[in-house]
Amino acid sequence: MTTLTSELLQAARQARENAYAPYSNFPVGCALQSVSGRVFTGVNIENASYGLTICAERCALFRMVAAGEHFFRTLLVTAGTAEPVPPCGACLQVMIEFALPDSLVIMAGRKDQVIEKSLIELLPLGFRFPGKEKHP
Ligand code: THU
Repeated sequence: MTTLTSELLQAARQARENAYAPYSNFPVGCALQSVSGRVFTGVNIENASYGLTICAERCALFRMVAAGEHFFRTLLVTAGTAEPVPPCGACLQVMIEFALPDSLVIMAGRKDQVIEKSLIELLPLGFRFPGKEKHP
């Protein structure tokens, strides 16, 4: 495992402790590295009106955007499952909005073995607004 992966894994696991998941009891943590090198974390935040729940990945991405950055290089997501969990489709589409052509998604569970895929592999045909594609 690279130093970056282990740094993101540690940050995501620590963040996961603050997940708000009283309905699913499925806390998720996320940590991403932006192009500037900063690390942003996120957690899933559920709501009594279930559909208002936000996933850990979008939480981390929105914190990055709120801090003034628009591109992530690497994003890691972890749950308490033995095996790694993949991001949901909605989060993949939001990642596309703030990704570089080679942004990476790392999935982790309780074990230290991770699965690494490029975002393009996970969502090859993500929607980009025609004529509004942006680059760093
Ligand atoms: N969840 C995430 O935060 N990220 C994922 O990649 C999958 C699902 C959350 C949403 C909800 O709070 C709980 O996990 C169960 O779906």
